[in-house]
Amino acid sequence: MKIPDIIIAIDGYSSTGKSSLAKKIARKFDFLYLDSGALYRGVTLFAQEEGLISRLNTVNPALKEALGGLELHFGAEGKLYMGPRCIEQQIRSLEVSGQVSPIAAVPYVREWVDEMLHAFGRAGRIVMDGRDIGTAVFPEAQLKIFMTASEQVRAQRRYDEMVAKGETPLLEEVVKNLRERDYIDSHRETAPLRRAEDAFELDNSDMTFEEELAWVQGLIQGKFGIL
Ligand code: DC
Repeated sequence: MKIPDIIIAIDGYSSTGKSSLAKKIARKFDFLYLDSGALYRGVTLFAQEEGLISRLNTVNPALKEALGGLELHFGAEGKLYMGPRCIEQQIRSLEVSGQVSPIAAVPYVREWVDEMLHAFGRAGRIVMDGRDIGTAVFPEAQLKIFMTASEQVRAQRRYDEMVAKGETPLLEEVVKNLRERDYIDSHRETAPLRRAEDAFELDNSDMTFEEELAWVQGLIQGKFGIL
């Protein structure tokens, strides 16, 4: 099945499986996959290492200028690098997850990330996941999917992922982090998480990955008239 050079935007709550679905779509249709959340996580790690975010999540305004010296890029297998250093593992820690939402609520941080996202978008044939891709970054995206799932399902998924990586999280910590992030992400002033009017909603609480894929494939076939 060959689909045109479009932008596919996948937004939704934390741990709804956006990146797994986006990666699969990218492989299947030969698209470039871009994880916008990784960039917010990279900025968060940077702010932590530079001492520009407090334990109480107060962001030091000096971060704005410091961002001029930050270089993030995606390397092999889509892993995120800060300069020469692969930071993929660090950006997935609970420490970074715990401070990423306040950092992502800062307007100049969003501008900094958006600039990178737009540069990728110019190439077309891209599937990008995040919170505001279909509403703010690429409102012109030709296919928008908004993902949801019950809190219990999402927390268990995130917990299992961390355990599989050899971490020892507490389930209630994972739930707390999801709740906090969803709240901040959907209540911030700049580009809050919300479903774009023209986005198709996918609640995958009770779906297998194969069912999700079949749903997306049906959507693409219907929308672009491809068999
Ligand atoms: O998708 P993720 O969980 O890795 O994203 C981490 C955080 O980054 C998320 O809590 C909110 C923020 N984010 C955002 O504000 N806008 C995006 N497009 C992507 C992520």
